Amino acid sequence: MCGIVAYTGKRQASDILIEGLRKLEYRGYDSAGACVQVGDHLDLVRTQGKLSELEAALKEHPLSGHAGIGHTRWATHGAPSVPNAHPHLSMDGKFAVVHNGIIENYSIIKQKLQQEGVVFKSETDTEVIAHLVAKFYKGDFAKAVADALAHLEGAFGIAVVSAYHPGVLIGARRGSPLVLAIGEGELFLTSDASAIVDYTQKVVYLKDDDMVELDATTYRITDQARAEVRRKVQNIDFSADQVAKGNFPHFMLKEIFEQPATVINSLRGRLLIEQGISKLQGLNLVQPELREIKRIVIVACGTSFYAGKVGEYIIEELAGVPVDVEYASEFRYRNPIIEDKTIVFAISQSGETADTLAALREAKRKGATVLGICNVVGSSIARETDGGVYLHAGPEIGVASTKAFTSQVTVLTLIALLLGRMRNVSPQRGITICKALQAIPGQIEEILRQNSAIQTIAEAYKDNRNFLYLGRGYNYPVALEGALKLKEISYIHAEGYPAAEMKHGPIALIDADMPTVVICPTDALFDKVLSSMQEVKARGGRILAVTDADNGQLDGLADHVLHIPKTLPMLSPLLAVVPLQLLAYHIAVMRGCDVDTPRNLAKSVTVE
Ligand code: G6P
Repeated sequence: MCGIVAYTGKRQASDILIEGLRKLEYRGYDSAGACVQVGDHLDLVRTQGKLSELEAALKEHPLSGHAGIGHTRWATHGAPSVPNAHPHLSMDGKFAVVHNGIIENYSIIKQKLQQEGVVFKSETDTEVIAHLVAKFYKGDFAKAVADALAHLEGAFGIAVVSAYHPGVLIGARRGSPLVLAIGEGELFLTSDASAIVDYTQKVVYLKDDDMVELDATTYRITDQARAEVRRKVQNIDFSADQVAKGNFPHFMLKEIFEQPATVINSLRGRLLIEQGISKLQGLNLVQPELREIKRIVIVACGTSFYAGKVGEYIIEELAGVPVDVEYASEFRYRNPIIEDKTIVFAISQSGETADTLAALREAKRKGATVLGICNVVGSSIARETDGGVYLHAGPEIGVASTKAFTSQVTVLTLIALLLGRMRNVSPQRGITICKALQAIPGQIEEILRQNSAIQTIAEAYKDNRNFLYLGRGYNYPVALEGALKLKEISYIHAEGYPAAEMKHGPIALIDADMPTVVICPTDALFDKVLSSMQEVKARGGRILAVTDADNGQLDGLADHVLHIPKTLPMLSPLLAVVPLQLLAYHIAVMRGCDVDTPRNLAKSVTVE
């Protein structure tokens, strides 16, 4: 979604803003802008479209100054256009604001300000903030921003700059992330630490309702009551290299290839192989509750939701605890029943997804213990949960999630093992699972070695407009995830289905133009999935199979085969998803699609 970068220090602010915004390009945006203090006024440049447009505009109209704010926008209120792009100025041009999130009561504020004579230049909700700050300004910048914040309802992360206060910035957050980053003689504000990791590793993750006033060397944080507070300075847990593409043409491909390492990172220090158990420090405090739980609810969105679905199968199998996986957006607005001894897991790569955050808050209101499975350290979901497990997969930049999925499934398996060993799973079975988990990274490597073969197969399917993905048991969610990958980045319609459910509808669509991707490891359901394949074949459909079956077993059925190594059935999703990621990737590249920043999508959906 939108990205914020703000800078005050010795360097040219506009250089830092552009570099920082470039690091946030992956989040998805449709327009961009920067505003810098130049002498005693604010100078503004905004453009529609890609960041390269803003760079070109800045060459024409350089902004020379040492403090400024920058933004990439993903339209919510008002179409993508230059007037709607951030930063937004107050009417007198003395204050400029960038904003992530949504101001829910903006139209009431707007009406009031208009009655007072304020002329609006955009259709955005954000513009009211700039006008409110100007209205309340009586010489004290921080007080004017605080007074403006008191009128806002909704979610925001903001950065404000003023012509009256050279070198000073103000940031504030409620519901949208904002990070203060501390360099040598320079300070930054950003919505995402990856924007500034080239300059410093020292950050403060601001809490909800915090406001921070900063110049090049000092900062002062206040809480909701505007009392000064100290917040912990932390080190960013990733390096600048991890947010660079390296030799890969796209972040998505880099992240697919990182999976052997990221799964190792998710497992590191967490397997006690001889005892056949997992050790998850983030769950230590809730161990007694975990022993007692009667039900688990998982809330998540997108790919994280599908990882949760795999988790449902594994946890029920190993722990015998009933699991319900719910879309966070649904959970938050119905009246979910949370009984005693229910634990809620919120799964989110970014830790900032608005619906997942709201769902966890709803679950907490109902008295549930809520645990997080997040990748981004210090993210809102990680901070608001009662404990949890980090993925340690490193920053994920490609909008279509890949390595986060395999790490989420890995972590869910560790949780299932923990719960299972507290119950009926024998040490021997635990050891078998630990060993099989340990082998997964090497097995993913084997699949990655087939990349060029998968590319060749992709060639044969790239022109199809519709796909069906089928799987059963543990691999039904993988069918959903495989279909999601394809539609996200190649804009091809794809549907995932439980294989046997095909005959209740989708079979009507099967013909030579609608290929079916079938995930069919040789598990207990293998023969049944073969029957579904027969049904597809009988209707002239083409089949691409993902399987660990030996050559020959699918003869006469599959037109193409993507091979995966053998593992325990419950771990097969960790392998089966990888060729599907590569298939989607290659098809998207062949179709000339923008793989890392697909149209209309955002990496982290911080609005409803
Ligand atoms: C967006 C992203 C998806 C992601 C989903 C949930 O839709 O494009 O890749 O799976 O949000 O995000 P989260 O950060 O909560 O896992």
